Amino acid sequence: MTLPTEQKVNLSAELPHARPFLKWAGGKSQLLPALLERAPESIDTYYEPFLGGGALFFALMANPALTPRRAVLNDLNHELLTTYTVVRDQLDELFERLEPLAVSYLECDEEARATYYYSIRDEQWDTPIKIAARLIFLNKTCFNGLYRVNQKGRFNVPHGRYKKPNILDRLNLQAVSQALQNTELTTVDFGDCCLEAEPGDFVYLDPPFHPLSDTSSFTAYTDSDFGHEDQLRLKWLIDEMRERDIPVMLSNSPHEWVVGAYEASRYLVERIPARRAINSKADRRGAIDELLVTSVYPRRGAISLDS
Ligand SMILES: C[S@@+](CC[C@H](N)C(=O)[O-])C[C@H]1O[C@@H](n2cnc3c(N)ncnc32)[C@H](O)[C@@H]1O
Repeated sequence: MTLPTEQKVNLSAELPHARPFLKWAGGKSQLLPALLERAPESIDTYYEPFLGGGALFFALMANPALTPRRAVLNDLNHELLTTYTVVRDQLDELFERLEPLAVSYLECDEEARATYYYSIRDEQWDTPIKIAARLIFLNKTCFNGLYRVNQKGRFNVPHGRYKKPNILDRLNLQAVSQALQNTELTTVDFGDCCLEAEPGDFVYLDPPFHPLSDTSSFTAYTDSDFGHEDQLRLKWLIDEMRERDIPVMLSNSPHEWVVGAYEASRYLVERIPARRAINSKADRRGAIDELLVTSVYPRRGAISLDS
């Protein structure tokens, strides 16, 4: 079996705008108009300390008026950042590794697909290219595109049931690789990611949400939880950046602690209606407001996603 011809790369064709190449819990695709509207008029270095799927980064790159001169992209999830680094630097080797996974999976019947999925999921792969191929493969074929690890840091999401998952989207991966060329990719705690930010830069922070209730939390992106202490550290970091006149934007849940903490410190605090795409329970994927907190700086204002 070979992959469909439209998935083969046409080197002479212009690449499309890069889109997030992974589905990620907390992904911001639907909030993009609100986020772009609140971006500063111009951005020298763009910082995204909680990168995940990087929806805002890719939207900024797709829009010439907003494209930053360079970007520092960070996430504490090592597998995730290894994958971004491989996509940026070793795309051909990644294609070579990912294609056989995609082909083997797609030619199986449903039962054999599940067996194949679990065999890849339960193997520990060590080189960066293998880690990247495995992460992309699992992300496209697991239940709901979820990333979740157990206490030992092992990926534990069950098999999904997509009829024709686009496991190897060569064109988008090429566009993503190009968009990442002028980026620094790091895997540090958010507190250490933007120490060098300056007033002409822009820092967008999208941490694991402050849980609205004991049962609503989803913070297992890495093997360590993001708790109240971390939310406090984040608040101090944001205060400190605001004092240095660095444009900052935060998204978080509309938990009363978050609202109170930022409103009391004279930020612009706005509730934006949003829909959670990833929740293991379908009935909890309903409308939930998101909170956007911004420091005060000249903004670009409403902008079309296609311009
Ligand atoms: C809500 S998600 C970000 C979603 C992203 N904005 C998107 O569009 O897909 C939060 C991310 O923060 C990362 N994270 C958790 N704790 C962290 C920490 N202490 N420092 C940096 N990143 C962390 C998680 O691995 C996760 O990818």
